[in-house]
Amino acid sequence: MNITKRKTIIAGNWKMNFVDSLKFFEGLSGITIAEGAEVVICAPHTFLNYIGADALKYGVAASVGAQDVSAFGSGAYTGEVSGEMLKHAGASYCIVGHSERRQYHGETNELVAEKALRCHENGLIPIVCVGESLEQREQGKTFTLISKQVSAILNALTEEQLNKTVFAYEPIWAIGTGKTATAEQAEEVCGAIRNRIAKKYNEEKAETISILYGGSMNDKNAVELLSRPDIDGGLIGGASLDPIKFAAINKAVETAGANV
Ligand code: 13P
Repeated sequence: MNITKRKTIIAGNWKMNFVDSLKFFEGLSGITIAEGAEVVICAPHTFLNYIGADALKYGVAASVGAQDVSAFGSGAYTGEVSGEMLKHAGASYCIVGHSERRQYHGETNELVAEKALRCHENGLIPIVCVGESLEQREQGKTFTLISKQVSAILNALTEEQLNKTVFAYEPIWAIGTGKTATAEQAEEVCGAIRNRIAKKYNEEKAETISILYGGSMNDKNAVELLSRPDIDGGLIGGASLDPIKFAAINKAVETAGANV
């Protein structure tokens, strides 16, 4: 975590879990949010237009994020939700290319890049997820794969759009498995993402982009992960459903910042 050059983001991904948001934010009231850090809750589409208000009721400064966006702008795409609609419903962030969408909905690097573009066209900050499967890691393919996933985004976005883009390294084998990447493994890949950005632009640019880690991050391992210089926050699934754990992860930002 580099607290001077870029924003620290602690983003919860509620996935398709029904959360009583009033209860959740009540549990988060009085939460410590480190200076310069931002809390984002990525909720199912149907929650978006009220969770911001629910957070405010309990004095929690949380930004609202969606979990997916249509690759199309508008029109006859039954069941799809556009970037414009997400923005209108109160979102300022949107996850794109989560491995669960790549895996269960066949999303390709190109489609993910299209979705990132739809985010930018509508003033949403995309949180672009990249990550390898266990098999790919064991075959030594991690870095080539990550580079491909990141390159598709870098090739599609303008520099100005990249400035407002967040990356998240989420190794598939660590998602929902309770098996976290070690801080060294997470740092290594987050560093590789930063190097890929530096290769296209320069190191100064790469230093300004927030890169998160996701995959079984919790109240126990957050400090260690967040203390690493290239890890600028977390994208948290399971532990973001529990306000006590989620608050502890936010508290860990301060402790980790002091460790940097
Ligand atoms: P878990 O924290 O439940 O492993 O989920 C990570 C994730 O997929 C966040 O997007």
